Amino acid sequence: MSFNVIRCRRKRSARDVPAESIKDGREMTVDVARPIIEALARAMAARDRLTHQHSQRVQVYAVALARKASLPDRMVHAIRAAALLHDIGKLGIPDRLLHKAGPLTAHEYEDVKQHAIIGADILSTFDFPGPLARIVRHHHENWDGTGYPDGLRGENIPIGARVLSIVDCYDALTSDRPYRSAVPHESAVAMIGERRATKYDPHIADVFLRIVNDMRSASPRTLSSSRAPARVLLRLVASAV
Ligand SMILES: [Fe+2]
Ligand SMILES: [Fe+2]
Repeated sequence: MSFNVIRCRRKRSARDVPAESIKDGREMTVDVARPIIEALARAMAARDRLTHQHSQRVQVYAVALARKASLPDRMVHAIRAAALLHDIGKLGIPDRLLHKAGPLTAHEYEDVKQHAIIGADILSTFDFPGPLARIVRHHHENWDGTGYPDGLRGENIPIGARVLSIVDCYDALTSDRPYRSAVPHESAVAMIGERRATKYDPHIADVFLRIVNDMRSASPRTLSSSRAPARVLLRLVASAV
């Protein structure tokens, strides 16, 4: 199977593969699925170490947010796996786009957006216990319907994808990227607050902001004195999960 993005785009587009066509069949157990998830994560790491490290941090934040939002265990398991593999579709995106130092052209951006569809396509080949492929497909949808690949709006976006999009954005903002430097932790938190109810589910965004506040009051010195508060937050969240 080729993961070449151009071929994938010709073969199927967002409209060709509606979200409804990705169905869970006979589900495997979480324990049976775990080595498959791990193998796929290692494949990602072999191709792009930075994306894998980003995914590992997103996984810690996502599980903490899902638990704080009182989501059921089955959904937390799906979110845990989806967070680690949410960008697996980037295996199908050429390096010249993934590592481009400057801004992408509109055409290049359309190619990169395909990673959500490619990722869901890869993951739909096995029956994970929970909506893994759906979460991955929709992790770039926006609450107001302006996201991709399907322009879903509000609660039509799977809850796992609504959780993932917030922490994915937080980690992307607080990390160095080829085309820009990391944004400070406080600015990233403020941006998520501002995008509450436009980009993000307002309820889940509020839960995220509560976690940040709880961390702040639990370890005010650690967070305020650190030169890398995002990394401190990661350690605090990881120890609380
Ligand atoms: Fe993504
Ligand atoms: Fe991501």
